[in-house]
Amino acid sequence: MENKNNHRMDPEELRTYGKKVVDWIADYLKDIDKYPVYPNLKPGDIRKQLPDSPPVSSENMDAILEDFNRIILPGITHWNHPNFHAYFSITGSAPGILGEMLSSALNVNGMLWRTSPSATELEEVVLDWLRQMLGLPSDFKGVITDCGSASNLVALSAAREAIHKRVREKGLAGRSDIPKLRLYCSDQTHSSVEKAAIVLGIGQDGVRKIRSDREYKMDIAALSAAVEEDKKDGWLPFAVVATVGTTSSTSIDPVPAIADICQREHMWLHVDAAYGGIAAIVPEMRYVINGCDRADSFVTNPHKWLFTPIDCSALYTRHADTLKQAFSLVPDYLTTSEGTVNNYMDWGVQLGRRFRSLKLWFVIRNFGVDGIITHLREHCRLAGILAGWISREKSFELLAPVPLSVVCFRFHPEGISDELKLEQINSGIIDNVNATGKAFLSHTKLHGKYTIRVAIGNLATTERHIAGLWELIKAKAAEY
Ligand SMILES: Cc1ncc(COP(=O)(O)O)c(C=O)c1O
Repeated sequence: MENKNNHRMDPEELRTYGKKVVDWIADYLKDIDKYPVYPNLKPGDIRKQLPDSPPVSSENMDAILEDFNRIILPGITHWNHPNFHAYFSITGSAPGILGEMLSSALNVNGMLWRTSPSATELEEVVLDWLRQMLGLPSDFKGVITDCGSASNLVALSAAREAIHKRVREKGLAGRSDIPKLRLYCSDQTHSSVEKAAIVLGIGQDGVRKIRSDREYKMDIAALSAAVEEDKKDGWLPFAVVATVGTTSSTSIDPVPAIADICQREHMWLHVDAAYGGIAAIVPEMRYVINGCDRADSFVTNPHKWLFTPIDCSALYTRHADTLKQAFSLVPDYLTTSEGTVNNYMDWGVQLGRRFRSLKLWFVIRNFGVDGIITHLREHCRLAGILAGWISREKSFELLAPVPLSVVCFRFHPEGISDELKLEQINSGIIDNVNATGKAFLSHTKLHGKYTIRVAIGNLATTERHIAGLWELIKAKAAEY
């Protein structure tokens, strides 16, 4: 179609191309199985097809969409593919995509209540729905951030504020009136916690990583001992991060015992349940967040296992006042006359905030809580089936319990005990599986052992996909 106005797409043209794009999305989701999950390109392969400088004149949407298909699509790693099993397997579901489209259309900036009352009030409501779905206490109030890493940073900023040493005003550097702050987490904790410590001036030295036990859960005796030792050595223990669903193995830290220590030592308890927390929506899996009702802050990511397109992380705290005390800073141009309204700009670093609650609202309403539970159960069932197959195969070994929907294992043929050799073989298996384009896997290390991870969490994944994956892994292993 001719672009009548060179500088601005008119609504009729939007209608035409919008329909094309929605058709494209529907076909994409229908045929997603047909794409290679992993593009298997060399670095620079996409870039070299793109012009170095921007177009001076308006380009037609047909040409842009054609280039999308021709250049961009072949370089996509398909996270929405049912055999994407790397990192955490996720889904940008249809209702979430529609919510995302509308939020782009509205282009709301939800920084103040008045900059879109619906954005603020829907965020409050939808986060309270999610809180109820998780069975968390009603004094947990939530805010949506872009990602789990940001939620961890914001939560730990509140923890730092809670020591009441006016760090906000005076900073940490050069102060003789504050001992060095110590933050505890396990050696399985996500790297974003250490990054938060870097940003907050606590430093990597201020993060004490507590050893994990044979099931990759934080060792409580070691935590207690570390706190005692640190106090004697003049540190100020101020926070513990417990994880529900660690990144590598999805282990679940003993939160009730950690909460006891936090209570005794007056430390802030932050629970990082970015992936695993969502499992608590399933009644028989509610136990995964045992003790989290005692947390000072808690994060879970709808963009990980709740079928919400990236990005959407839900951060809860029972100390919203402390959180706002850490961040609220209102220049003249952002003062408002509404009185006591919730201005979400006070809850974190961001001023400009996308209308993310809309897609989460669409997802929760369109699936319904029962629908969500059905899918989560199925993912765990599939993980259990795969774990069963692995445990029955003599030359493979499971490397961690499977409490949720991620399976950790390796090929371990008889007679090979050298860890380096096992690493070479297993990383080779992953590379060779990925090169087929039929499935995409990633790895981790568990207590020094190179580990293949299969994460299950996509709505389109069926038993057929898992069976096909298992055959593929065995076939690639047989090449060694
Ligand atoms: C336990 C845990 N916390 C935090 C994060 C970071 O989340 P995001 O990728 O949303 O920043 C991850 C990511 O995998 C995670 O597994």
